[in-house]
Amino acid sequence: MDQLEMKKVAAKAALQFVKPDMIVGVGSGSTVNCFIEELGSLRNQIKGAVAASKASEELLRKQGIEVFSANDVSSLDIYVDGADEINPQKMMIKGGGAALTREKIVASLAKNFICIVDSSKQVDVLGTTFPLPVEVIPMARSQVARKLVSLGGSPEWREGVITDNGNVILDVHHFTIMNPVEMEKELNNVAGVVTNGIFALNAANTLIVGTPEGAKIIS
Ligand code: 5RP
Repeated sequence: MDQLEMKKVAAKAALQFVKPDMIVGVGSGSTVNCFIEELGSLRNQIKGAVAASKASEELLRKQGIEVFSANDVSSLDIYVDGADEINPQKMMIKGGGAALTREKIVASLAKNFICIVDSSKQVDVLGTTFPLPVEVIPMARSQVARKLVSLGGSPEWREGVITDNGNVILDVHHFTIMNPVEMEKELNNVAGVVTNGIFALNAANTLIVGTPEGAKIIS
């Protein structure tokens, strides 16, 4: 079974958490795109969705699902999103699709953060296989890059990419993230950083891993 098939298995399994009349929080990325396609089958049973990216918003509308703003809701029962890496504590690196800021915002509204991945995303230590994305205000790009170097990382500007919020992304290589909570806080305190891609302060509650043997659900 290839990676996309495993993503589809995880996405389909997430549907069991969607209940009638819900407004569903929806992240972004290729695994979430599979989830949005599945969610289309429930369009007449749910109230709608809050999306974490313009791309997801568009796909949800194509499925006939009403899209609400995060400002329209006070909380969400569930938020479904993928990850670039996830550790055994369900802490993640996210932002491969440059949507990390809105993902953190929508995720923080949810009672149950459901992370859907294929098994290649499971790691023991964050930062092992994927660089850490950091969203930065454009005028602060160089100074934030210098600060990231001083912290032991090797930042690389994701040239040509502008986030939905009009900012740039630095992908930081060679960070081995032994204490994700502390590192998330430290990077958030760097002037010019909008969000970093460590999701540890608000880790996932439920992990669904797509495998050739079916979906593994870890609560
Ligand atoms: C986007 C993300 C995605 O959830 C993450 O990159 C995983 O993507 P995919 O499902 O395509 O593997 O954080 O900002």
